Amino acid sequence: MSYFKILGFEKEPFSTSPDPEFFYLSKEHERAMTNILIELRLRRGLSVILGDIGTGKTTLSRKLIQELKDRDDFIFNIVLDPTFESEELFLTSLARDFEINNPVLEGKPVNILDLRESFERFLFQKGVTENKIVTLIVDEAQKLSESSMEVLRVLLNYETNSYKLLQLVLLGQLELHAKIISMPNFFDRISFKYTLNPLDIDEVREMIEFRIRQAGYKSNMHIFLDEAIKEIYQYSRGYPRQITMFCHKALKHMVLQNKFVVDAALAKELIDDEVKSGWHKTNPLVQKNSY
Ligand SMILES: Nc1ncnc2c1ncn2[C@@H]1O[C@H](COP(=O)(O)OP(=O)(O)OP(=O)(O)O)[C@@H](O)[C@H]1O
Ligand SMILES: [Mg+2]
Repeated sequence: MSYFKILGFEKEPFSTSPDPEFFYLSKEHERAMTNILIELRLRRGLSVILGDIGTGKTTLSRKLIQELKDRDDFIFNIVLDPTFESEELFLTSLARDFEINNPVLEGKPVNILDLRESFERFLFQKGVTENKIVTLIVDEAQKLSESSMEVLRVLLNYETNSYKLLQLVLLGQLELHAKIISMPNFFDRISFKYTLNPLDIDEVREMIEFRIRQAGYKSNMHIFLDEAIKEIYQYSRGYPRQITMFCHKALKHMVLQNKFVVDAALAKELIDDEVKSGWHKTNPLVQKNSY
């Protein structure tokens, strides 16, 4: 029997998959989400979300998709891994995702100009005639090649007098920043930029509590004592993936040691083990936002 069933959970509370059901709305995530939704609604074009490894970008994108699913006026797609070898391959893949009629579908040889034209027709049809908000979300955007960035830049150029026809949300690790800065004609088009920072200690406590409740834990007793939260905060520096992985491990050890709570001693023991084995990393990376 898995440890979480022994503890009375219905689901695994600290799974590392980006499940929107376990999405805790931290201040950072909320600001990002609210602003992205406003930008999309106003059809301002390009939003860029940067975040260090494991700060919750993919989870945020899943939550965003869940929000968009409830709205009839959105047509959206997400690219999870934008590694494409050429402009043609990227555009063909996007055309397939959006179910755009294009020469490739008709068995004709790939021609970048024809593909762009099909896209333009599609965006005008959906965005102007049908008044839909066509949205493309790209996760792992730091992997976009220069030619793929060029594809996106061209798509962002399609517009009416008052709005952009394609809404683009890029989520990527911090190196995306350098990439975009080096392309002024792309950088200039960013309407909303945001850096997802790690959680503060109160949010670490709330996120842990939230995930435990979402997993079906009903008792009033706190499993993670405040003294342990302090240790977890210091260890994780507020990075959600670090918190999730650590809490998973802590619960497993709690069961193995026949304990009912995760206290400072248990948390320290696990942290010490990692430090001794050379697996613990330090150096927080926090960036200031202005938006
Ligand atoms: N707001 C949140 N609420 C609850 N859990 C979160 C939140 N953000 C992230 N997590 C958890 O942290 C882990 C890492 O999140 P995620 O995969 O979204 O990070 P990422 O920024 O996309 O990382 P990478 O840069 O490696 O792609 C996941 O297990 C996820 O469940
Ligand atoms: Mg990710």
